[in-house]
Amino acid sequence: MYIVQIAAECAPVVKAGGLGDVVYGLSRELSLRGHTVEIILPKYDCMRYDHIWGLHEAYQDLLVPWYDGVIRCTVHCGWVHGQLCFFIEPLSEDNFFNRGTYYGCKDDNMRFAFFSKAALEFLLRTNKRPDILHCHDWQTGLVPVLLYEIYKWHGMTNQRVCYTIHNFKHQGIAGADMLKATGLNNEAYYFEYDRLRDNFNPFVLNFMKGGIVYSNFVTTVSPHHAWEAHHGELGYGLGHTLHVHQHKFGGILNGIDYEFWNPESDRYLSAHYTKDDLTGKAANKKALQERLWLEVENKPLIAYIGRLDDQKGMHLVHHAMYYALHRNAQFVLLGSATEPGINQWFWHEKRCLNDNPNVHLELGFNEELSHLIYAGADLIVVPSNFEPCGLTQMIGFKYGTVPIVRGVGGLVNTVFDRDYDQTHLPEERNGYVFYQTDDSALESAMDRAIGLWEKYPDEFQELAVQGMNYDYSWNHPAKDYLEIYEFIRHK
Ligand code: ADP
Ligand code: GLC
Repeated sequence: MYIVQIAAECAPVVKAGGLGDVVYGLSRELSLRGHTVEIILPKYDCMRYDHIWGLHEAYQDLLVPWYDGVIRCTVHCGWVHGQLCFFIEPLSEDNFFNRGTYYGCKDDNMRFAFFSKAALEFLLRTNKRPDILHCHDWQTGLVPVLLYEIYKWHGMTNQRVCYTIHNFKHQGIAGADMLKATGLNNEAYYFEYDRLRDNFNPFVLNFMKGGIVYSNFVTTVSPHHAWEAHHGELGYGLGHTLHVHQHKFGGILNGIDYEFWNPESDRYLSAHYTKDDLTGKAANKKALQERLWLEVENKPLIAYIGRLDDQKGMHLVHHAMYYALHRNAQFVLLGSATEPGINQWFWHEKRCLNDNPNVHLELGFNEELSHLIYAGADLIVVPSNFEPCGLTQMIGFKYGTVPIVRGVGGLVNTVFDRDYDQTHLPEERNGYVFYQTDDSALESAMDRAIGLWEKYPDEFQELAVQGMNYDYSWNHPAKDYLEIYEFIRHK
C-alpha cells in the first residue's frame, strides 16, 4: 500500500511531544512491513537538521493557491532515520515556518491551513496518488475537507483519509477568512452544523470537526480515551460529532519505537541493560545523579518528563516533587513549558531548590537527557488531568522504571496497579494508579511505591521486570491501522 502521513511533527527532526514519536514510529513499522510510506512536514527553521540525511530540493515552483493569488513554495526531500520526508517551504516574505518555533504563533490556524493546502497541491502536481492519507491532529484537519471539496475535482478521487486525533483540546478555530484563503468558497455551506461550524460558537469554523466529518475513518490514541471523548467531556465539545460519526471512530493504543527506545542499545546511554540483568540500570542512576549534581545515595529516584501544561496535572507534578523530598527520595523534572505563567512558576521553584542535592529541575527540551532519566530513575510519575495515550509510562516500562499514574485515558489501558488491580493477575501488574486529583490520592500511591522500594527491593525489581515484559511496540497498533487502511480503501 502507498501511505502518506501528513503531520506537523516527526521525531526526532520535529518533536514537541508524543505526536512526533507516533508519526515516525508508525511510519517506520509500516515501511518494515513492506508498504511505501512518505511523510509531509512543514520546513521549520528550528528543526533538528542534523537528523536529516541528503536534504535536497525535490520540487521547485510549487504554486499554492492562496486567497486570490498564489504562494510559491519549494519542496525539499530527505531521509529521517530511513524514512522519506518532504518538507514544504513557502517562499513568501512572511514565511509561515521561519518563526523559531513550531507552534504558538497568533496565526497558527492560517499557517497550518496553508500547510494542509500545500501538501495536497504537492501531491497533485507531482502525480503522487497514495492509497491512504493519514492526517494527524487539528493542524491537518482541513486535508480531508480540501481533498473532498477541491482536489477530488482535479482527479484525486481514489485517496482515502484516516484522521488521528492525539489531543482534543486543541481543535484549530478560525473565521470565514480561512475559507477565502484556502479556496473553500461558499461560506453558508461550510457554516452548516454538519460541516465545519464549531459546535459551541456558530460564528467560527473548527478544523478538527472538519477532519472528523470528512475523513473516511477517525481514530484517537487509546481505547479508553475514545470512550472518554465520545461519552464523557474529554471530546472538548466534539462528543456529539463523534456520536454522529461513531460508525467510523475508534481508539488504537499508540506504540513505542523500540529501535529508538531500548535500554539494550540506546545510543544516548553508556551503560546498557536487559530485563535479565539490570546492573546497567544502577550505573545509569549513578550517571544521572552525577550529571545533575544530586547526592549519589541509595534513595528512590522519581522522575517527571513531559510538557509543563495544564493537561499534565501541574499541581500534582509540583506536589510530587515536594512529597518525594518529604519522603527522603530524590526528584528529577525535565519539562518544557509553552505557557508563560507555568514557565515562571517552575523557574521560581528551580531557583528556590537550587541548593537542594535531592532535586533537579531541567527546564527546556532535551532528548538526550530524557533517555538517561528514563534509564536512571526508579519511578516515573504521570499525574495527568487527561491523557489521550501517554508515551512516558510506556517508555518507562521498557527501561524498567515503574510508573505512578492517574487513571485516565491511555494510562488506564497500559498501567495496572500492583496492589488493587482486579482484572490482571499479580504477575501482570506493572505500576501504581490513583484516581482523584487531590494531593492525598497521589501521596498514597507514592507511599506504596516508595515503601516497596525501601522495604522490599526484590519485589520492587520484580515489578519493574513485569513492566519490561510488556510489548508496547508498534507491532500491534500497526496491524490495527493496516486493517483500517484496507477497510477504507475498498469502501
Ligand atoms: P504529549 O504528547 O502529550 O506531550 P506523551 O507522553 O505522549 O505526551 O509524549 C511525550 C514525548 O515527548 C515523550 O517522548 C517524552 O519523552 C518527550 N518529552 C516531553 N517533554 C520533553 C522534554 N522536556 N525533553 C525531552 N523530551 C520530552
Ligand atoms: C498527545 C497526547 C498524548 C499522546 C500523544 C501521542 O499529545 O497528549 O497523550 O500520547 O499525543 O499520540
